Amino acid sequence: ELSLQDKAKQRAGFKAAEYISNGMIVGLGTGSTVAFTMARLKERISAERLSIYGVPTSLQTMMRTGALGIPLVGLEQVQTIDITIDGADQIDSELRLIKGRGAAHVRERIIADASKRIIIVADPSKLCADLTGPIPIEIVPFSLPHVLNRLNQMGGTIQVREGVKKDGPVISDNGNIILDYQPITILDPMQLETVINMIPGVVCCGIFAEFTHKTTVIIGEENGPRII
Ligand code: A5P
Repeated sequence: ELSLQDKAKQRAGFKAAEYISNGMIVGLGTGSTVAFTMARLKERISAERLSIYGVPTSLQTMMRTGALGIPLVGLEQVQTIDITIDGADQIDSELRLIKGRGAAHVRERIIADASKRIIIVADPSKLCADLTGPIPIEIVPFSLPHVLNRLNQMGGTIQVREGVKKDGPVISDNGNIILDYQPITILDPMQLETVINMIPGVVCCGIFAEFTHKTTVIIGEENGPRII
């Protein structure tokens, strides 16, 4: 039996699967909400003989698609991605996002940038008037002391993300370290994103402010999915 929140995720995740049609290259995001989309896509592949190829954004998604039998392609084999379906941690009123709770935001940003269209699936708890953080930041391990200095100069608090089942820092799919940065405020998401991404050693942060023009958000409300 699914919890109320999981039911909300399921409504959003299932709805997003309706946007996929035959022959599409589909970017597959990371997390528990997109997992529902992938389960629905697997059903459509067998029921409708739907033919699609997925481009995964993480090892987690790669392993899940393997178990579901969704065929995958690499970025090098496709010109563009038709639609990417992904989750988010915070979504503001202008469809700017914070991502990276699952430490997958570097590959997620690459896939988002390569996509013609992005569909974000979430339960209502992800909606907020303004992005507040914390902001996940993936950094090259060598740069740790430097990036910590720079962020400290900007104010706020910073944590090196640690593993639950591993001692020491979480290591991303790309072999990097993840920081969780809580700024004092986020006045201008695009500007803060740019400032953080400019620090040498930062691969990228989890603010996604540049994709709003091609983003659709699906929220799994109680009376059905709401499209924003
Ligand atoms: C992964 O790093 C994140 O960007 C996820 O896409 C995000 O955390 C969504 O996960 P849930 O759907 O499980 O909330």
